[in-house]
Amino acid sequence: MKDFKQSVVYQIYPRSFYDANGDGIGDLRGVIEKLDYLKELGVDYIWLTPFYISPQKDNGYDVADYYNIDPTFGTMDDFEELTREAKNRDIDLMLDMVFNHTSTEHQWFKNAMQGDEKYKNFYIFKDGKANGEPPTNWISKFGGSAWQYVEEFNQYYLHLFDVTQGDLNWTNQEVRDEIYQVVNFWLEKGVKGFRFDVINLISKPVIFEDDQNGDGRRFYTDGPHIHAYLKELNERTFGQHPDVITVGEMSSTSIEHCLDYSNPANRELSMVFNFHHLKVDYKNGDKWSLMDFDFKLLKEIFKEWQEKMQAGDGWSAVFWCNHDQPRIVSRFGDEGKYHAESAKMLATSIHLMRGTPYIYQGEEFGMINPGYTSIDQYQDVESINYYHILKEQGVDEEQILEILRRKSRDNSRSPMQWDQTDHAGFTKGKPWIEVGAAYKTLNVKNALADKHSVFYHYQKLIKLRKEYPIISEGRIEMLLEDHPQVLAYSRQYENKTLIVLNNYYQSITQVELPENLVGDGEILISNYSDSPRLRKSVTLRPYESVAYLITP
Ligand code: GLC
Ligand code: CA
Repeated sequence: MKDFKQSVVYQIYPRSFYDANGDGIGDLRGVIEKLDYLKELGVDYIWLTPFYISPQKDNGYDVADYYNIDPTFGTMDDFEELTREAKNRDIDLMLDMVFNHTSTEHQWFKNAMQGDEKYKNFYIFKDGKANGEPPTNWISKFGGSAWQYVEEFNQYYLHLFDVTQGDLNWTNQEVRDEIYQVVNFWLEKGVKGFRFDVINLISKPVIFEDDQNGDGRRFYTDGPHIHAYLKELNERTFGQHPDVITVGEMSSTSIEHCLDYSNPANRELSMVFNFHHLKVDYKNGDKWSLMDFDFKLLKEIFKEWQEKMQAGDGWSAVFWCNHDQPRIVSRFGDEGKYHAESAKMLATSIHLMRGTPYIYQGEEFGMINPGYTSIDQYQDVESINYYHILKEQGVDEEQILEILRRKSRDNSRSPMQWDQTDHAGFTKGKPWIEVGAAYKTLNVKNALADKHSVFYHYQKLIKLRKEYPIISEGRIEMLLEDHPQVLAYSRQYENKTLIVLNNYYQSITQVELPENLVGDGEILISNYSDSPRLRKSVTLRPYESVAYLITP
């Protein structure tokens, strides 16, 4: 049985990974073809984002049928072959389960729209206010009201995301039973992991009311019955399979809740994603603004989450990238001269922390944002909605495009860059979304050919986690809290100490380490061939990152 503390998960967004049949859209056979590459990297699990039947308004996060594969991505035979072929390489599959909402094309929603009361009660239909306004003033995560009016019923239904994603009513036991059946269906197919999409939003409040100082999220985030629902989900499904791992995507959550979600004694989930560290470049909490990242805040957040999750025996997924986030090198690193140094430094920062690392396709060789310059290049529903919202607010075109170029979810969804041929070798057809500008140099082929590339740094980090229990099990303590440009921490296990130093900037800097941490440290990994020895005072070059293991 795999230990999730020693494991690394690789996220695949199938649509953008590899297109095996030339229709321009990545597919499951494309994943099968690239398994040897993932084996070489050394990952333990592949998390596949949704490939179920879907009208694809939100690229599969709008599920119309949980039991079948969307023909865009292949067939059930392809899926079964993928499971087997992955297993042959000791890689297991983690599936994405979207249970906060379904597509409005799901049969349940269609029945509801026919007026079938049983199915209306699968969703959240409410009367409007006396003046005809929606039931509450809540805002959808993709912009606009979270309520859609249905004339036939003179009622509204709740959609926290797109209007085609109706929120499910988890208070209804029949809904929960249906969901458990879905999870069990995929368990029987041999799936060994689940990622539960925005799972902390499923428990809505008892009373629906206006939010006088916010968009409504405080009423439904980590809602009233959330822990009871997760315990039931666990008990009725994956909890019966001790070798299955789970991760919950937690939107705007708190440490207290995350401890409850992930403390093993609670029997909810194995681990949690939180996003606080990825909001340090949001001006006043607004994603659709431009701001340099706040390094001091980033350090504070890491300190708080790492140390408190440890104190309460919780467990985190540690990550920089996913299909909703811009590329991390473009964001906190350097796309230019120090591309490789910064990509490696960012990788080390996360991989040697306490938690299970997740790598998003392309991150392992330092993919950067594609650099789209026209609104026509964007495909993502959220990006397109916000383009219009910002227009209405009077922001000028150029500024909006600059915001999208840095913030859009399509930054992570541009095709995986395999080589320097047309469309980066992603497809023989016309890709559903354009390839990034840098593909001729930044691609898998080049990364594999250079033994000092970012790819081999990730490969080494994955290996180290398995070889050194100090990485998977050690106690963490954040160091040098006041240092303006270095993220530093120590790990302790048995009588050993690991010291990790990461310079987040181009300028050379010096760190002074506490006397008790200075020893004859062996360098486990670094991003310069001649990193300094561990001394009381260490000088770090641009984006230099080094980890020392002290064995007394
Ligand atoms: C999650 C997914 C995102 C999706 C949303 C709605 O945040 O990661 O891609 O749009 O949930 O399902
Ligand atoms: Ca295809």
